[in-house]
Amino acid sequence: LNSLVNRQWRLASRPSGQVSEENFRFVEEAVVGPSAGEALVRVKFVAFEPAMRGWLDDVKSYAPPVQIDEVMRASGVGEVIESNIDGVAVGDWVLGNFGWQEYVIVSAETHARTPLRRVPDGVAPQLMLSALGTTGLTAYFGMLEIGKPTAGDHVLITGAAGATGSIAGQIAKLKGAEKVIGIAGGPEKCSVLVEQLGFDVAIDYKSERVRRRLREECPNGVNVFFDNVGGQLLDDGLINMARNGRIVICGGISSYNDESVPPGPKYYMQLVARHLTMEGFLLFDYADKNEQALKDLGEWVQQGKIVHLEDIQSKIENAPKTFLRLFEGKNVGKQLLEI
Ligand SMILES: NC(=O)c1ccc[n+]([C@@H]2O[C@H](COP(=O)([O-])OP(=O)(O)OC[C@H]3O[C@@H](n4cnc5c(N)ncnc54)[C@H](OP(=O)(O)O)[C@@H]3O)[C@@H](O)[C@H]2O)c1
Repeated sequence: LNSLVNRQWRLASRPSGQVSEENFRFVEEAVVGPSAGEALVRVKFVAFEPAMRGWLDDVKSYAPPVQIDEVMRASGVGEVIESNIDGVAVGDWVLGNFGWQEYVIVSAETHARTPLRRVPDGVAPQLMLSALGTTGLTAYFGMLEIGKPTAGDHVLITGAAGATGSIAGQIAKLKGAEKVIGIAGGPEKCSVLVEQLGFDVAIDYKSERVRRRLREECPNGVNVFFDNVGGQLLDDGLINMARNGRIVICGGISSYNDESVPPGPKYYMQLVARHLTMEGFLLFDYADKNEQALKDLGEWVQQGKIVHLEDIQSKIENAPKTFLRLFEGKNVGKQLLEI
């Protein structure tokens, strides 16, 4: 094991505006260890999320910025191949903050602070990074704690063919929403929404007039709006809300690569006119409810009530390219890289 080479990506420079492959540097180094009190994990899958763009900026946020020369931070799953930590066994499949690299040494202190989570027997490891991981939890809490769809509701999701949106829409349907409308870019994604994921309606924001389509589909307005995108689409939704509607601000990917702060929503006075609420959240806010959420998600997945899609690219060399897919709209479902 001592002759193992670890190939990894480190942050080379901070992007100003659009992130590019040049912001990362490919490094090969020998694996040293594991020493006493450490375990060695061979990383199998790495997960990508739009929020990682924010970690590249040197600003205060919910997570500290990735430092220059630090291995790019990312959650992953892998197999323990050597272990000197009690309770972590060779052959265990575990989930942790592993980064864009092939091998990771985990110390007992790190494990004590944020324990490696074991992949339950019988669960495909990559599921822990999608429907049964932070993606599923984000959709679950945003939809059920804030959106709270009830029977008969009309529910709107932006970024609907992405990781979070695709699950959020299905949860709304499970809770009895009458009409679930997904907005996504391009005809292929729109057909996935209706044909595979059970959305009632899909709108292609790249070729259709969204505001008008929403007015036609929901003449009485949208009751729950789960927004992943912000910008123009947030306004298109705001102007089509029903009285007492709920707007869940999950994210705003349309401006993550902007150099300046985007203008606010134009139609925010709809909050007054139609008694709307608009609430943002972080999935960690509901950590005390993770157990029940994962139990529900696990059952829905097992019973086929939730279809989960993973877009799996391959090879560590392609990590930056894979990250960029999120902003190019190339991914359908959860963006992963198999190493
Ligand atoms: N609040 C939380 O705790 C939390 C946790 C996780 C994620 N999030 C947020 O949830 C959102 C979705 O994240 P995800 O991991 O599920 O990613 P994702 O939706 O799988 O991937 C990103 C998708 O966003 C769309 N997109 C990219 N640029 C766009 C633009 N300029 N305008 C409109 N759409 C654009 C693309 O789809 P199209 O082809 O359809 O454009 C792309 O496929 C993000 O905003 C993320 O920050 C929040």
